[in-house]
Amino acid sequence: MPSASAENEGAEPSTVRVELGQRSYDVRVTSGIAGLGAFAGTALEARSPGRSRRAALVVGDAHVESIARAVAEELRGAGLEPRVTLIAPGEESKSLNTSRTLFEALVEARADRHACVCAVGGGVVGDVAGFVAATYARGIALLMVPTTLLAQVDSAVGGKVGVNLPGAKNIIGAFHQPVGVWSDVGALRTLPDRELRCGLAEVIKYGVILDREFFEMLESDVESLLARDETKLRAVVARSCRLKADVVSADEREQTGLRAVLNFGHTIGHAIEAVDGYRGRFRHGEAVAAGMAAEARLATRRGWIDEATERRIAQLPARAGLPTTVPGLDPDALTRAVRIDKKNRDGRVRFVLPREIGHVDETDVDDDAIAQICHEITLAGHE
Ligand SMILES: NC(=O)c1ccc[n+]([C@@H]2O[C@H](COP(=O)([O-])OP(=O)(O)OC[C@H]3O[C@@H](n4cnc5c(N)ncnc54)[C@H](O)[C@@H]3O)[C@@H](O)[C@H]2O)c1
Ligand SMILES: [Zn+2]
Repeated sequence: MPSASAENEGAEPSTVRVELGQRSYDVRVTSGIAGLGAFAGTALEARSPGRSRRAALVVGDAHVESIARAVAEELRGAGLEPRVTLIAPGEESKSLNTSRTLFEALVEARADRHACVCAVGGGVVGDVAGFVAATYARGIALLMVPTTLLAQVDSAVGGKVGVNLPGAKNIIGAFHQPVGVWSDVGALRTLPDRELRCGLAEVIKYGVILDREFFEMLESDVESLLARDETKLRAVVARSCRLKADVVSADEREQTGLRAVLNFGHTIGHAIEAVDGYRGRFRHGEAVAAGMAAEARLATRRGWIDEATERRIAQLPARAGLPTTVPGLDPDALTRAVRIDKKNRDGRVRFVLPREIGHVDETDVDDDAIAQICHEITLAGHE
């Protein structure tokens, strides 16, 4: 787990190493993109040495066009041959149609297996561009330049890539680790407040599941983070990546069960998104925030944490402007959605719940307890 001293974290650019044997890579956490070309050149050379020509498909969306073009110039400066393709912003772009457009752009660029895809954007761009990199020519190098807080602390690290089918989120995908991740917290300056808060939900989750000291640091710093203090953002992105990287190193492909700790807040969170029909009343981070508050209450009910700890777990997302309840959502639909696909052989649902701040365990929760919590959090006027 991370070093005890967090005092100077964020003061300088830092590098987090994701240890995965031959697929190991660096996450650079910094402000700006100066040096990205050299970083990419080194990462690509390590993966497939000695190429004189490398095509690079830089994928962005309209909201990050200027960053994508600047990234392309950095790559050109490092001897790559970039071309920029912009996809429409939004979850609808995480599709096979978009993938096809990107595959065709790679063919047009005469990209061979030494080419690379560079994903500049949030989780949507990272997931679809990553999926294309995972499958074009049986897999080419992927460079991630995440530009949302959620992508910087979560989706850009870990190697999960994929697209949706109508009604089936993330159903087509692969594990494909990037060759490097460049997280420029300066890019977050233009991020809408709501998106920033959603990223903070995942950050708070890391504190609850793995790192009490980090949770306490967030309790002190949440206002500065909302004000986009870059030093504090760098510290938070680096620490979150460190925590996720350690989990991913221990369970890259979700085989040992260790990666399951990342699901705290997500069992109920995913159900909230599903009942909302992914229409965006609750963005993912908002659903996870409400899910964390609800799951903390489940932990209280089984005597794992006390009420004061439960309140702390709910209050931090609330201070970050995130919802802790979902008033008005259909409680029966929510109960059903929590149960769907999550049942184990005994017909009970697996949850990851806190034992204390900084530590979680897996456990079954029975149907009555699920129904009760789903009814409580959907009550109108309930805070
Ligand atoms: N692969 C994984 O492990 C993983 C993990 C978590 C989430 N995800 C996926 O990530 C996606 C959500 O990602 P997200 O929350 O980043 O959403 P997103 O990619 O849709 O980005 C949110 C919005 O912010 C805009 N944007 C991005 N960067 C910006 C910037 N710097 N300035 C201004 N606007 C900017 C985007 O255009 C978009 O409109 C979901 O599809 C989810 O399934 C994947
Ligand atoms: Zn999440």
